[in-house]
Amino acid sequence: MTTPALAIDAQQLVRTFAVEGREIRALDGVDLQVKRGEFVAVVGRSGAGKSTLLNLIGALDRGYTGHLQVLGQSLRDLPDRALSQFRNQQIGFVFQAFNLLPGLSVGENVMLPASFGAKLDPSEVRRRAENLLKELGLGDRFGQLPSQMSGGERQRVAIARALLLAPPLLVCDEPTGSLDGLTTQQILGILKDTRDRHGTALVIVTHDPAVAATADRTVVLDRGRILKQDVDLQAGAA
Ligand SMILES: Nc1ncnc2c1ncn2[C@@H]1O[C@H](COP(=O)(O)OP(=O)(O)O)[C@@H](O)[C@H]1O
Ligand SMILES: [Mg+2]
Repeated sequence: MTTPALAIDAQQLVRTFAVEGREIRALDGVDLQVKRGEFVAVVGRSGAGKSTLLNLIGALDRGYTGHLQVLGQSLRDLPDRALSQFRNQQIGFVFQAFNLLPGLSVGENVMLPASFGAKLDPSEVRRRAENLLKELGLGDRFGQLPSQMSGGERQRVAIARALLLAPPLLVCDEPTGSLDGLTTQQILGILKDTRDRHGTALVIVTHDPAVAATADRTVVLDRGRILKQDVDLQAGAA
């Protein structure tokens, strides 16, 4: 099997929701191509459709019309079990609300993606989790519960979990929203390092100019449509 060059290929992607008898077009014909190893920042005001787009790209939702391939796979055609397996093994997802499991320790949360059929030795999983937590400045927190941590610390645990299997696609909803500037720079360094070493494609929703400035390109979403692609925010208004 050949590896497709595109991590994401969306054409005329539409997602509607019915709210009180009215139809909301959260995505209204999005065309987006992201190459393997590319780092794309997605910006746009609240309600623009950013999280809706990430949920589709991240294989959490497939109630769309139009064309969508993720890592060469048309997700609409996969049975549910195959879809979960695909998601667990191929996609790292950092949720805006972190979504850590409160009953599991920090270390167990980070190791979670390996418990869905990944072919990794348990000692290797543990080693990876410890290394990631150390890199993210949480080396001594392995046994703690998420409830004992600050928002910024939980966010870093969620990032470690998403990186555990070094997935070909990493999707993040505001991954640095709870972090200070220095920690943000550290995390951007780790994300770029993952990309360089594993060819991971990064799609990151952000309001943080530092994140957008680090990306290869920025995509602006507005009312469910892509307003501009390839904007270079550092170059000022075009
Ligand atoms: N599950 C849902 N049910 C109904 N409406 C939704 C749902 N998810 C999103 N929407 C609507 O779709 C639009 C885009 O939402 P969202 O993707 O969350 O925006 P953003 O992440 O850019 O703030 C909003 O109008 C929102 O209310
Ligand atoms: Mg959102």
